[in-house]
Amino acid sequence: MSKLALFGGPKVRTKLFPAYRTIGREEEVAVIDVVRSGVLSRFVGGWHPDFYGGPQVKALEEEWARHFGVKHAITVNSATSGLYCAVGAIGAGPGDEIIVSPYTMSASATAALIFNSVPVFADIEEHYLCLSAESIEERITEATRAVIVVDIFGQPYDAEKINAIAKKHDLWVIEDAAQAPNVKYKDRFAGTLGDIGVFSLNYHKHIHAGEGGIIVTNHDDLAEKMRLIRNHAEAVVEDKGVTDVVNMVGFNFRMNEIEAAITREQLKKLPYLVKQRQENVSYLAAKLSQIPCLEPARVRPGCEHAFYMHILKFDSEVAGMHRNRFVEAVKAELPPIELRETEGVKVVAGYVKPLYLQPMFQQKIAYGRNGCPFKCGHAFRDVCYDRGICPVCERMHFDELINHELMRPFMSQQDLDDVFAAFQKVWENRSDLF
Ligand SMILES: Cc1ncc(COP(=O)(O)O)c(C=O)c1O
Repeated sequence: MSKLALFGGPKVRTKLFPAYRTIGREEEVAVIDVVRSGVLSRFVGGWHPDFYGGPQVKALEEEWARHFGVKHAITVNSATSGLYCAVGAIGAGPGDEIIVSPYTMSASATAALIFNSVPVFADIEEHYLCLSAESIEERITEATRAVIVVDIFGQPYDAEKINAIAKKHDLWVIEDAAQAPNVKYKDRFAGTLGDIGVFSLNYHKHIHAGEGGIIVTNHDDLAEKMRLIRNHAEAVVEDKGVTDVVNMVGFNFRMNEIEAAITREQLKKLPYLVKQRQENVSYLAAKLSQIPCLEPARVRPGCEHAFYMHILKFDSEVAGMHRNRFVEAVKAELPPIELRETEGVKVVAGYVKPLYLQPMFQQKIAYGRNGCPFKCGHAFRDVCYDRGICPVCERMHFDELINHELMRPFMSQQDLDDVFAAFQKVWENRSDLF
């Protein structure tokens, strides 16, 4: 039992953990081919054969749709853009409410605001951390149009229960699957469980193209609206003969040919990369669960988990200290990950602060100075964003949840053993932290 690094003892490990490097020779060749072709994007923002993009974009859309078993895959330049397209396509607008999770990356909730709808936060599940079906049902009003569910940390949402609630109340389900590619809920892939699903291809995701996103849906009409919103809808509708112009204020959310070519190669690697995470987590979780104050994340029965992050729940009564103190001591024992050195040690207390505690919601100001859309003439009611509205989420964030990324592919068994050794050392020396 050596002295804790927090108090000047030797660290468990100083050598950086290996980078999560998924870009290789295949991507290099694909990029060179695109560069040599001279066509880096073929999109045209008007009604024209190239309105739907170039050869790489079209090939990727076809391959993605086939892989995930959906009718339409639509490339965009980020998952954020994909969520905006989705909210636009369902026709949401001022006066509408959209139920969202407070425990997610901010874009899953701000997507509602882009079309001047009001996000209403429901609480999360105690064990699986996705939106709670019961809490959603409590938040439904006659103004509710949709639910944006999030497959948070890689765990698919409770599709059976939530889809049934949505059906009963005539709501759209938009599934943010940015963190959960290539995992199944029963026999269907996460991302394809709701009406519209959105994946991310940003640098931190399971597979990436630097930036990028892909929307999937089986609804022909929604797919076409999303393609319009992606590419200057307002300039296209007339020539294309579109008569319903609701939310047809377009953007430029187009993916370029280089990103599409990289993603086509990354898609081939996706099943292996997800499987590696699952294997690493299963090895590490078996060890970490021997530490009495830690409970590794549960996986929803009937589901696979993509482990974007590995979640541990911390019991402060058993440990005799607050989670933050324990995490501080674990971090002191470990190094950062190569290529992400500036982010520090990737063991974190909590995740993002419950979103309703952000200044925008606390001050109820999004557009202009007059409180739109929260308090403008169209708002159905004054929605509450006070601390306390989602008690499970707050407890997880402020007291119980630990997330870490030290289980990604390219971590060797020795690397994983070092991670465990850091947690174990802190547990064994816990009395020094009281
Ligand atoms: C759950 C979730 N939704 C949406 C996003 C936004 O993704 P992007 O960076 O591709 O816009 C992220 C990115 O971190 C995310 O984790």
